[in-house]
Amino acid sequence: MSGIDIDLKGKRALVTGGSRGIGRAIAVRLAEAGCDVAINYLRNRGQAEETAAGVEAAGGKALLHKCNVASGEDLGAMFEAIHESFGGLDILVSNAASGVIKPAMELTPRHWQWTMDINAAALLPLAQRGVPLMSDGGHIIAVSSLGARRAIPNYAAVGASKAALESLVRHLAIELAPKGVLVNAVSAGVVDTDALKHFPNRDQLLGESARRTPRGRLTEPADVADAVLFLVSPLANMMVGQTIIVDGGYSIMG
Ligand SMILES: NC(=O)c1ccc[n+]([C@@H]2O[C@H](COP(=O)([O-])OP(=O)(O)OC[C@H]3O[C@@H](n4cnc5c(N)ncnc54)[C@H](OP(=O)(O)O)[C@@H]3O)[C@@H](O)[C@H]2O)c1
Repeated sequence: MSGIDIDLKGKRALVTGGSRGIGRAIAVRLAEAGCDVAINYLRNRGQAEETAAGVEAAGGKALLHKCNVASGEDLGAMFEAIHESFGGLDILVSNAASGVIKPAMELTPRHWQWTMDINAAALLPLAQRGVPLMSDGGHIIAVSSLGARRAIPNYAAVGASKAALESLVRHLAIELAPKGVLVNAVSAGVVDTDALKHFPNRDQLLGESARRTPRGRLTEPADVADAVLFLVSPLANMMVGQTIIVDGGYSIMG
């Protein structure tokens, strides 16, 4: 299914970590529905340009912005650029993530801080800077993972960061709903992106996930993008502070 049945014409979106993987799929899906999209990335300009080409091919305007979402100063310049180019913002997708994949007992304070800063803490300044640009209400979507609620080997730092993220989503949601800004999260099962290259047991993880998923296949970036599209559409007007799980039924298996 494409996003063309949901009409977001004239809406302006920001997707953090939009250069690759799930972020790219979300950026292109929002453009297919009619959005102009600001694409944030950290290092991979070439990949970000490919996403921009996808957004433009779908009929949207694309704005590229390189910045570290964990740096407050960088964020200020990014929102200024969005204000200048788009005149405002309607949809903020906090998707960028990083993190150290190691047993908990081997994590250093630096590993922990790095992971928490990018995956959990960044949502707060993103919301603080993004909401003032949402003059007519809007949507904030955070992208989370099953490690927020489940214990996964080597995933202590990222899992804890995603648990904090989902909690922040609920707290922002109750504060911003009266202002017409709806805050929710999408949590995904295992998706075969570059992020998995950091897992020592990548092949086992992919094989095991596909085998245990009732839907019979792995979750793909487009599946996550479709859930984001739903949440930012008028179909989700009463969704507030929720985390929707998109995993083909993996996490409900006993
Ligand atoms: N893959 C999975 O199995 C899975 C499952 C559940 C949830 N998720 C979540 O889905 C989201 C996207 O994951 P993915 O698998 O698509 O990741 P990915 O392929 O590793 O891509 C990560 C993206 O985040 C950007 N990024 C990383 N650190 C950043 C920073 N400090 N500031 C700005 N941008 C930064 C990267 O930019 P550059 O290209 O410039 O480096 C890239 O665009 C994440 O929130 C992840 O936790 C993934």
